[in-house]
Formats: sequence, structure tokens, C-alpha cells
Amino acid sequence: MKITVVGAGAVGATCADNIARKELATELVLLDIKEGFAEGKAQDMMQTAALLGFDTRISGSTNDYSKTANSDVVVITSGLPRKPGMTREELIGTNAGIVKGVCENILKFSPNAIIIVISNPMDTMTYLALQSTGLPKNRIIGMGGTLDSARFKYQLSTHLDCSPSDLNAIVVGGHGDTTMIPLIKHATWNSIPVTNFLNAEQQEKVINDTMVGGATLTKLLGTSAWYAPGAAGAALVESIVRDEKKLFTCCVSLNGEYGQSDICLGVPVVIGKNGWEKIVEMKLSADEQAAFNKSADAVRNMNDVLKTL
Ligand code: 2OP
Repeated sequence: MKITVVGAGAVGATCADNIARKELATELVLLDIKEGFAEGKAQDMMQTAALLGFDTRISGSTNDYSKTANSDVVVITSGLPRKPGMTREELIGTNAGIVKGVCENILKFSPNAIIIVISNPMDTMTYLALQSTGLPKNRIIGMGGTLDSARFKYQLSTHLDCSPSDLNAIVVGGHGDTTMIPLIKHATWNSIPVTNFLNAEQQEKVINDTMVGGATLTKLLGTSAWYAPGAAGAALVESIVRDEKKLFTCCVSLNGEYGQSDICLGVPVVIGKNGWEKIVEMKLSADEQAAFNKSADAVRNMNDVLKTL
């Protein structure tokens, strides 16, 4: 198994680190445009191999895509991260060109790769990757909902004083501060609805804190977060390479599912060796469906910006 992570910044490096520690690949390539940067990160990570006991061979490359040849999975993290006060959407102009170029270069050397998109604005970058590559839709996966659902579980766990991994909770819709929809009515603590334990005000707080989860960290850190985004990317890689068929919320191409078409948006999907293998349709309440439609409208407006670039 060969995996490439494009972009050796904080998110890309954390994702690669998780992939190596879990031994998801025999070969792992880290690529960046900054001279020597990916090589340095790769070497630093390789020097943890003897300490952590993994057997993945990690190498770095300064923009030489031939080194990524025959990758099975490629994670794209390239582009500018958010600065405090910035929305993910403001990155579109710069990141669209970068992501399009990365996709072209990747496919020259790895025509069969499954692509995971992390770059922001993630919903639009996933749509762009799909449109510009013309790949079968199952091979393009946007990571956003996986991260947002993990943040949702974290917020719930602080109120319930429980383990985040004992929670089942998903965020659907866009990966934006105002477009994501934490489905609190469907969330459970080991099968018990969390709404049994949280009053309306607490539920509202969990939802709001989840939605601004990324912005809160950007403010605290001065740049966008990396541990959870990197781990979310690696969790998707794991489900693909081990063919786990786990259910994640990911940004995928919709063709009528959830009442939407010609858009990539976060919905529950099964992730396995073929990429996203199935969209799982759940019954949304009228309010939830209305929120989903509103989210789709906002993402569609963002996608329209691509036509002007
Ligand atoms: C975040 O929400 C990077 O979009 C990512 O932290």
C-alpha cells in the first residue's frame, strides 16, 4: 500500500504521522512545494520509527510528483490555512488554483488513486476536484464532516462527562461555521439519546460550539487546527486501506440523495477499499432538511465562484 500526503504543513504532517503510527502503508510520501520541507518532516518522522515501532517507509519530496507514482490513496492538504477572523470561504481564490494543479499532477502518476480532500473551503475544493479530474465520484472524498463529527462528540462529552468514543453523533451539511448541521436529535450515548441528559440551552450551546469549533481554535492558535483534522484524514485512509466499511460523514457528490444534486456535501457514507461506497440515507425532520437545503444553497453559491476564477 502506498499513500501520498500533499502538503507537509501542520495538517499534512499530522495526518502522515497518524498514517505511519497505524502502519497503514508500506510506503508513505510527503510532498510540499517549499524546498526541503517535506524531506525534513519525513526524516524527522522516520527518526520516530525506532521509538514508536512502526515499519512504514516515509520519504519527502519537493514538488516532484514522480515520487508519488502508483499511490493508492492521496490526501490533499495543500493551500493556505485560515488566519484568525477569516472564514474558510475566503480562501477559495488561492486554494482553488492550488488544489486543481495538485489533482492534475497526482493523476499523471497515480491514475487509480482515491483522493481525500482536506483543503479549504473543503466542500468547494471537493467539488472542484471532482469536476476537474472527471474521476468516478466514489474516488473523491471530502474530509470535513468526519472532523466536525469528532468535534461534536468532544463538545457533547464535556457536557455529559463521558468518553467521546462512547458517543454516536454526526454533523452533516457543509464544512463551514454557518453551514454545518450537528444532528443533536439523532446523537446517542451508547444508544441513549443525548437529549435525555441535556436541556434546550445546553443543546444549543453544544451545537454552537461545534459549529465554531475550527474558528475557536484558529483564534487560540493563530492559524487553523491540525491534530483533529490530521487524525480525521488518517481515519478515512484507515477505513479505505483496511476496507473497514465504517460509516463516516464525508463530503461526496450527491445525485438526488437528500434532495440535492450537482453538489458535494457532507452526508453519512460507507468508506471502504473503493472509496466512498454507499450514501446512507436517514430520515431528516422537516427542520433538519430545511437546514440541509440552506447549507446546500450556501455551498452552491461558493461553487459558483469557481466559474469566475
Ligand atoms: C478546521 O476546521 C482545518 O477546516 C479545518 O480546523
